[in-house]
Amino acid sequence: MSTKTIFEPFRIKSVEPIRWTTRGQREELLRAAYYNLFLLPAGDVLIDLLTDSGTGAMSTHQWAAMMEGDESYAGSPSFDHFKRSVQEIFGYRHVIPTHQGRAAERILFSVMCKKGDVVPNNTHFDTTRANVEAAGAEAVDLPLPEAREPGTRLPFKGNMDVTGLEELIERVGRERIPLVMLTVTNNSGGGQPVSMENARAVSAVCKKHRIPFYFDACRFAENAYFIKLREPGFAEKTPKQIAQEMFALGDGCTMSAKKDGMVNIGGFLCTNDDILARQEKDLLILTEGYPTYGGLAGRDLEAIAVGVQESLEEDYLRYRIASTAYLGDHIAEKGVPIVQPPGGHAIYLDAKAFLPHVPQEQFPGVALAAELYLEGGIRSVEIGSLMFAGAARMELVRLAIPRRVYTQSHIDYVVEIILKVWARRAEIKGMRLTYEAPFLRHFTAHLEPMG
Ligand code: F0G
Repeated sequence: MSTKTIFEPFRIKSVEPIRWTTRGQREELLRAAYYNLFLLPAGDVLIDLLTDSGTGAMSTHQWAAMMEGDESYAGSPSFDHFKRSVQEIFGYRHVIPTHQGRAAERILFSVMCKKGDVVPNNTHFDTTRANVEAAGAEAVDLPLPEAREPGTRLPFKGNMDVTGLEELIERVGRERIPLVMLTVTNNSGGGQPVSMENARAVSAVCKKHRIPFYFDACRFAENAYFIKLREPGFAEKTPKQIAQEMFALGDGCTMSAKKDGMVNIGGFLCTNDDILARQEKDLLILTEGYPTYGGLAGRDLEAIAVGVQESLEEDYLRYRIASTAYLGDHIAEKGVPIVQPPGGHAIYLDAKAFLPHVPQEQFPGVALAAELYLEGGIRSVEIGSLMFAGAARMELVRLAIPRRVYTQSHIDYVVEIILKVWARRAEIKGMRLTYEAPFLRHFTAHLEPMG
C-alpha cells in the first residue's frame, strides 16, 4: 500500500459499548479506588491502556477455529494444530503449552536454575525476574547504557549489552549461568526492538561458553517487523522468515500468547533439549495439566495456532507499528516527553520530565496516570517508584495499546486528553502512600494527593 493513510486492516463485526462518565463521576471513582488505577472497575474506564496482554480482539478465523477445539484430555488434535503452527515459526523440537507466560517461566527456571546461579537478560520483565528469584537465582539486567536515557533515539534500543554479558561471564564463571535470555521486544526498556545482529552476537557468546540461549518471545512479531523496517538486509524478507531466522539462533523460548499470540489467555515453553523437556513436562503435569493441553482448553490451543500466524501478517504489522507511532509522534511534536523512539506495543510518558516539580518520592508517574483518568477516563500504568520502589531507574507511565481494539479516532481522543493535561501540568500535585503490601505493592497500594 503506498497511500499516506494507514487504516485499520479489518472491519468490525462485533462491538462492545463504552460507558461514558463525567469528570465528577471520575473524581468520585478515583477517590474510591485510592488513586490506584488497578483498583478501578474496568467498566468505568473509557479507553483502557493498562496492558496489551490478553486484551486484543480475535479474528473471525480464530473464533471459527475455536469451534473446532477438541477437548480430549490426552492426544487432542487441537494440540497437533497448535504444535505444528508454533513449530513452523519457532522451529524448536518440544512445544509445551501453559496457561500464560509466567507459567512457562516458572517451569523453565525451576528446572534450569539453582541457588547461587545468575541469569542475564537484556531486561527482565517483572514476572520473569520474580520467577528467576523464586528459583534462588539472581536476575541481572544488561540493557544498552543508552537505553537508560528516555530521549535518546536508537533503532534497536532494546539490544543486550554484549560486552556487559562477556564481562559478567568472566566475573561469575560460566558454571553459574544456566541460561541467557533475550526479551523481544524489550518491554521494560520501553517496548524497544532487538536487532538480528545483536541476537547473533549474544548467540555466539553463548555458544563459545556452551551456555543455553533462550528467548522471551512475547512480542516476537513486532520485533521481526522492526528488523524488516530498520536493519540492513531484511527489507525483502517476510516477518515470518525474520522470526524463523532469529529463533534458529536459540535453544528454546518462553511465550505469553496473550501478546503476539493474539489470544486472551495462553502461552508456551519451547526447548530443543530432550532431557529438559521431560523434566518440564513432569512439572507441567503437577500444576498446569497434561502435556497436550497444559492448563488450556482445546479451543484455546486452536486460537493460538491461528493467532501466532496472524500476528506475522504484514498488513497487520504495518498498522500495528504505525498506530503506536501515531500516538507517540502526535504528543511528542507538541513537546510531551516520551521514551524515544516509539516502541511496538506502547508509548511511555517520561513522568519525571512531564512533572519536574514533583519529587520522585511523591510518585510523579502515579500522579500523571491519575490525571489522565480524571481528564478523560484513560487508564495507563505507572512504571516507576511505586512499582519498583528504590530500584526504579525512570519514572514512566505506560500507555499500552491492545491489539485490533481501538481505532484512530480513539487514539486521537487519547492525544487530545494528554495535551490537555500537558497544558495544565504545573497544577498537578504529587502523591502520598497511605497503604502498601509487603511485595508487588503497586497492585494494591492506596494513595492520596499531597496537600
Ligand atoms: N515477559 C514479558 C516481556 C511480558 O511483557 C510479560 C507480560 C510476561 C513475560 C509474562 O506473561 O502475563 O502471560 O504471564 N506482560 C504483561 C504486560 C502483563 O502488561 O506487560 P504473562
